[in-house]
Amino acid sequence: MDNFSILGELTPQKFLRDYWHKQPLLIRQAIPGFKPLLDREALCTLAGRDDVESRLITHFDGTWKMQSGPMQRLPSFRKKEWTMLVQGVNLHDDAADALLQRFRFIPDARLDDLMISYATDQGGVGPHFDSYDVFLLQAHGRRRWKISAQQELNLVEGMPLKILKNFQAEEEFVLEPGDMLYLPPHYAHDGIAEGECMTYSIGFRAPPFQELGEAFLQFMADSIELPGRYADPDLAVTQHPAEISKAMIATMSAELKKIRFTDDDMTIFLGEYLTEPKANVFFDSPEKSLTPTKFVQTAAKRGVRLSRKTRMLYRGRHIFINGESFAVGAADKKLLLMLADMRSLPGELVASASEDVLEAFHMWHDDGWLSIS
Ligand code: SIN
Ligand code: CO
Repeated sequence: MDNFSILGELTPQKFLRDYWHKQPLLIRQAIPGFKPLLDREALCTLAGRDDVESRLITHFDGTWKMQSGPMQRLPSFRKKEWTMLVQGVNLHDDAADALLQRFRFIPDARLDDLMISYATDQGGVGPHFDSYDVFLLQAHGRRRWKISAQQELNLVEGMPLKILKNFQAEEEFVLEPGDMLYLPPHYAHDGIAEGECMTYSIGFRAPPFQELGEAFLQFMADSIELPGRYADPDLAVTQHPAEISKAMIATMSAELKKIRFTDDDMTIFLGEYLTEPKANVFFDSPEKSLTPTKFVQTAAKRGVRLSRKTRMLYRGRHIFINGESFAVGAADKKLLLMLADMRSLPGELVASASEDVLEAFHMWHDDGWLSIS
């Protein structure tokens, strides 16, 4: 199957040039004959787990309410106007992970997760906007989407979720299974289920600069080195003992200005930051750990693949995996880049790996970051 057929007639290049971050796009039958990857029961089971992020949104008697998971009880499936959202389904289900992989014409550093929403008739999350790009793929039943390019995005105050004060729909479409709607960030929308429906949201990450900056300074705090200590051999008698002297500020700020960030610091920080698993992600270690010899023997025969939960990126000689980083030489780099891009390696390539790489693979296997194919 052509990996990029999800964009209908459009090539990924044209999509990125004309629509990405710019304007909405409706693709009828983006995935022809698409069937839900998980049924209602499987989705509810996921929502009941404490390592899965889920939310229940109800709009009973005209009142919006939101409740966070894990879900113990849900309203009756016969009752109208409720929605259950399950985040990160790709981390727990192979088919959901495979679907997300079809969006890899956009880099992994931007791709976030697959969220599945289940709604009963007339269910929705209200008119709102998101801060991220999103592809909304209809998986089951029908949903009516109303969208608007409106600039005014004031929210109703005191609500448990983001609800636009003045939503003025400009366009409206009913999506059937396999249809997909792309929305750029801050595009107002309201999706209402027509009968029971399931919608898959392919979401992207766009870290706020404030959050990036705070995390970067924390990262730098661990690596800066400023030897020496404050000294003032020329100290003069003061009439104002509570005042900080100009000289003290000058000396201290001259020292602090010695802090420098190199491009390598930035790269290492970003790689670690972008591959850090979310707080509720737990890796499943293999049932039995293999000795190094046994691991290499089996992996060289069958190949290896990254866990659905593993985030692996690279830049230059730096390799990043699940919040950790290391620098590699040219020979190891080739293999690790292939693993990161393809998310798996055939046995013959594993067999050609250096001792260092095999040792790392064995450790990642024990940690549940990678498995034998
Ligand atoms: C939904 O799938 O119910 C909501 C998705 C969205 O509007 O962002
Ligand atoms: Co939305």
